[in-house]
Amino acid sequence: MIAVLGATGFIGAALTQQLASGDEPVRVLVRDRGKAEDRLGRFADRVEIITGDMHDPAALDALLDGVRAVFVLVQTVTARQPSTAGGYADAERQAMQALVAAARRAKVRRVLTVGLIGASPSAANPWVRSRAELTQALLDSGLDVTVLRAGLVVGIGGTGYDWLLAVVRGESSVVLGGGGQRWSYIALSDVVGYLVDAIDEPSTFGKALDVGSLETPTYSELLSRTAVAIGRRPPRPLRLPLRLVVALAPLIERLGRLPKGGLRTAILHLGDDLIGDPLPVRALLARDLLDWEQAVAAAAVPGRLAGVAG
Ligand SMILES: NC(=O)c1ccc[n+]([C@@H]2O[C@H](COP(=O)([O-])OP(=O)(O)OC[C@H]3O[C@@H](n4cnc5c(N)ncnc54)[C@H](OP(=O)(O)O)[C@@H]3O)[C@@H](O)[C@H]2O)c1
Repeated sequence: MIAVLGATGFIGAALTQQLASGDEPVRVLVRDRGKAEDRLGRFADRVEIITGDMHDPAALDALLDGVRAVFVLVQTVTARQPSTAGGYADAERQAMQALVAAARRAKVRRVLTVGLIGASPSAANPWVRSRAELTQALLDSGLDVTVLRAGLVVGIGGTGYDWLLAVVRGESSVVLGGGGQRWSYIALSDVVGYLVDAIDEPSTFGKALDVGSLETPTYSELLSRTAVAIGRRPPRPLRLPLRLVVALAPLIERLGRLPKGGLRTAILHLGDDLIGDPLPVRALLARDLLDWEQAVAAAAVPGRLAGVAG
């Protein structure tokens, strides 16, 4: 039995569909059963769905009972959290502590998650710093942890990619930041493939591994290349300084009852370079990664999550 936390999310839904197309039983913990059934589509019937919040030890015990590996694909910056969970960083830290404790109780040793490429404890962005600390805490837990750290994940439903596509299609004229930020990227199907391949690969245990493209095009180059790939004219977007956009974030956080400071830090992260070292993982997990144009084409196939089987 394999468990997934975050199965209603962009990466988590694609991963759950992929796992559910195999032979091993899959169990997910979600906050909203209807949303999970909608996101998992025809795979929902093949998955055991339990409901609850990731901060609830009893819900985590139910998720992990009898499983041999758990995937953690959650984020707290733009997802509503219980009022007792504090800000976005506290909410994530508490949830990871609860998960590690539950994994120990259930004797689940294998934990796999997706982090932020190149995340360093000295990063300027507070979310990236807190993620780097959480990654270290997970690696120090004594469990068999693998953290795959990604830049932009290419697929419909991914916040960064959806935004980029909206600019190219002319649905949004706002380019965040100067457009000169450099991004490593990876297709959704490749992240999912790496996660699945890593489950039983001991050489990935106890490691944080950057995954994705070796090339790091600028955001402006990605806009132009996407326009060519989907047969559009390259966009002439309005460049808005991030500090103007983030000025609205506290209001949106209040109205949406989102964790304090989360949206602000997530928007600011869109202006960061997303650069790491994706070479080491290639020596451990063999995979021919899609390039940008292939990833954009895969994302455009209706009814499929960027090439995920099924
Ligand atoms: N998308 C990218 O391009 C990208 C790039 C690099 C790294 N990552 C990392 O990959 C991971 C997954 O990202 P994503 O884009 O797939 O995220 P996402 O689409 O926003 O999904 C987040 C998931 O977390 C769940 N969640 C949040 N709070 C929860 C709680 N208190 N209890 C239970 N579930 C909770 C959400 O459930 P609800 O549906 O109930 O809200 C949702 O299923 C994150 O760690 C993210 O930082 C993503």
